[in-house]
Amino acid sequence: MFPMKYNDIDFNNKDILITGGAGFIGSNLVFYLQNNYPLARITVFDCFRSGDTFANGNLKSFGHFHNLIGFNGHVICGNINNPDELSLLDQYQFDYIFHQAAISDTRVYDQEIVMKTNVNSFYWFLNKAKKDNSTLVYASSAATYGSLSSPQVIGQEAPENPYGYSKLVMDKIAKSFSEENPDIKIVGLRFFNVYGPGEYFKDKTSSMVIQLAHQILNGKPPRLFNDSHNILRDFVYIEDVIQANIKACNSKKNGVFNVGTGKPRSFQDISDIIQYELKTNFPIDFFENPYTGYQMHTQADISLSDKYLEYTPTYSLEKGIKDYMPYISQMFNHPK
Ligand SMILES: NC(=O)c1ccc[n+]([C@@H]2O[C@H](COP(=O)([O-])OP(=O)(O)OC[C@H]3O[C@@H](n4cnc5c(N)ncnc54)[C@H](O)[C@@H]3O)[C@@H](O)[C@H]2O)c1
Repeated sequence: MFPMKYNDIDFNNKDILITGGAGFIGSNLVFYLQNNYPLARITVFDCFRSGDTFANGNLKSFGHFHNLIGFNGHVICGNINNPDELSLLDQYQFDYIFHQAAISDTRVYDQEIVMKTNVNSFYWFLNKAKKDNSTLVYASSAATYGSLSSPQVIGQEAPENPYGYSKLVMDKIAKSFSEENPDIKIVGLRFFNVYGPGEYFKDKTSSMVIQLAHQILNGKPPRLFNDSHNILRDFVYIEDVIQANIKACNSKKNGVFNVGTGKPRSFQDISDIIQYELKTNFPIDFFENPYTGYQMHTQADISLSDKYLEYTPTYSLEKGIKDYMPYISQMFNHPK
């Protein structure tokens, strides 16, 4: 994983904060930076998992220590909603802040907790970036677009759940903060459907790639919604997401940028590619989609990401799943 440097930034001897570093994308960033820049001083801030659940039955936070085995930097267990715990970060002066911590579950409908966690805490990190003169890269989401038709374009948003709305509000806050503080680099990244090693601990909110693969490895037919060949999403592999985060540090302008492949693929494609990789031939077990407000077609318009970040996705769905299969099998055979 991550054999290459994506630009000429030298993160060695830099102070780097990764919030949500015990989660999927955050932990991949941790190891990308640690492996390529052994002298980088990396601090992870994450509340980890407590076992508490939301009304939907899912964990309140998915951070897992296992994602950080092998990490040599500092770890602070803290909640971004808790000013006392955030103040533990006052002892550092960060050159770079990668803000990934959030309620990442799109099906949490308690608006108060989603807005407080994802939005209110963001002001703290913006002010920290201003105080430290840090570059701030934060996670936005394709959920800001709701069910608008493809391709999804920056500036045309219509979120359909509290999560998507919270990310859109973050983007608006970042925009006005940037206008007031033009010297600070602030870049938001709208990730589309990310998949790859490290997501196992997201349980039911992990991508359909690992969920379908584990069904098949269990000897069961893959379960898909009716008409799945017509449900298309922009699935983006974790390595391309890391590429975008690193390149965002050199962005030619502040703003928010889409991070996808630009090439929508169907859930049926995922199932077919996994079956090809695993040499199985199960018939699909189709069932009715129980969700309303379900995104039926996403396709990132990545023209601005290309222009201002020089972001170029390098993983097709076939290539990404192939690269991912050893981790999928490992987590199936030795679940943590
Ligand atoms: N994975 C995707 O497909 C995707 C798509 C769009 C946007 N995003 C965004 O990217 C970021 C990372 O997502 P991910 O897939 O790695 O999810 P994740 O749930 O694995 O990571 C989020 C991390 O934040 C931590 N966290 C949650 N609430 C916290 C709190 N109150 N205080 C401190 N830490 C807290 C969790 O413990 C977890 O480690 C999130 O902001 C998410 O909204 C992800």
